[in-house]
Amino acid sequence: MKITMIGSGYVGLVSGACFSDFGHDVVCVDKDESKIAALHAGRMPIYEPGLEQLVASNVAAGRLTFTTDLAGAVAGADAIFIAVGTPSRRGDGHADLTYVFEATREIAAAVTGPTVVVTKSTVPVGTGDRVEEILREERPDVEIAVVSNPEFLREGAAIGDFKRPDRIVIGTEDANDGARAQQVMRDVYRPLYLNESPILFVGRRTSELIKYAANAFLATKITFINEIADLCEAVGANVQDVSRGIGLDNRIGAKFLHAGPGYGGSCFPKDTLALLKTAEDFESPVRIVEAVVSVNDTRKRAMGRKIIKALNEDVKGKTVAILGLTFKPNTDDMRDAPSLAIVQSLLDGGASVRGYDPEGMDAAKAMMPDITYCSSPYEAATGADAVAIVTEWDIFRALDLKRLAGVMVAPVMIDLRNVYRPGDVEKAGFAYSSVGR
Ligand code: UGA
Repeated sequence: MKITMIGSGYVGLVSGACFSDFGHDVVCVDKDESKIAALHAGRMPIYEPGLEQLVASNVAAGRLTFTTDLAGAVAGADAIFIAVGTPSRRGDGHADLTYVFEATREIAAAVTGPTVVVTKSTVPVGTGDRVEEILREERPDVEIAVVSNPEFLREGAAIGDFKRPDRIVIGTEDANDGARAQQVMRDVYRPLYLNESPILFVGRRTSELIKYAANAFLATKITFINEIADLCEAVGANVQDVSRGIGLDNRIGAKFLHAGPGYGGSCFPKDTLALLKTAEDFESPVRIVEAVVSVNDTRKRAMGRKIIKALNEDVKGKTVAILGLTFKPNTDDMRDAPSLAIVQSLLDGGASVRGYDPEGMDAAKAMMPDITYCSSPYEAATGADAVAIVTEWDIFRALDLKRLAGVMVAPVMIDLRNVYRPGDVEKAGFAYSSVGR
């Protein structure tokens, strides 16, 4: 099949590379010439484990190409995926659909015959209807079915998630060529279908809502366990044992019950806000998600205060080492990372901050120019009054604790990801605090 991917960012590039690995002919399009030039040179615009090799092998096999020429890429395509960004609109939290509609118009101008246009970007309910209207208005002469096919990839685990999904959701409209669209989508996902990954065919609006409901539910699960963690601290219970104790109930499930400094990233914060906007627009409030958003916002600053508390409520003139800056491990993504609010509260309290992250420091430098960036956890901890683990990169899981304590002014550790067992850290001489235990 010939597949066109419009937008070679995170979702577009991973999906395009994986589709080509299935054996399809894929062309990834982007307006950003420097990004396409980098891809031609084999350089990835994002850090994602396994992506560089996957791209290289499919480029070598002649199944994956990159271009800035949208019209050329769209002509003759069996399926055209829209995977452009949908950032939060400044000020009001609505998803900004400018890029989606721009891509739609450009597709309309370029299609040469019957095709299927698929929104892979996370788009609010009703966006598929609008995309269909635009295509109908501009190209009444061509049969174009519009499909919703949300992605459920996690950064850092995206290729595995794509190739072994829990489910594939496909939203079509019977009135708009739904049967043909379903057949095309079955062919697109045939290798996964053969692996028996469940494919769920639903209405288009339902599909759009599934994506938001999934992310909002996961954000709720995290926020729930974070509040239970606070309660554990208050009553003297252990949140990891509570997570295990409730997670073994199949109806609850063990995943996404790790207490921490609050969720961040490019998806949960943006998608929960966009869901609330949809709820507001349709006058059907989702109060649980309202609470989740506000609890999570408050939590990030509260984690800064937790560090300050571990330093006897005063960080003025003290130095804090932050280990892990990205919103989670195995990514270089700093968007809405808890470290941003934590560092700000430390700086506001008069502390100096030293930071180390295996992949995120380039992005972090632009967002947090006032901290000292170091080349290892030990360098970051040198001369520090406390070290805080904010992101659970593997490299922080087996630190030489004696060596770490040895370079610090005083061995104080605040472990916001519960990476360590309290006894082990205390044995190395640390005053240790963690989350919910
Ligand atoms: C999330 C979803 O997991 C994906 O299914 C979805 O496709 C994606 O959003 C998206 O909409 O594009 P992602 O943002 O990459 O993926 O990262 P997650 O692994 O879900 O982590 C999100 C945040 O929750 C991180 O800050 C992480 O540290 C935090 N988290 C996660 C916890 O604090 N506790 C947990 O138990 C799990």
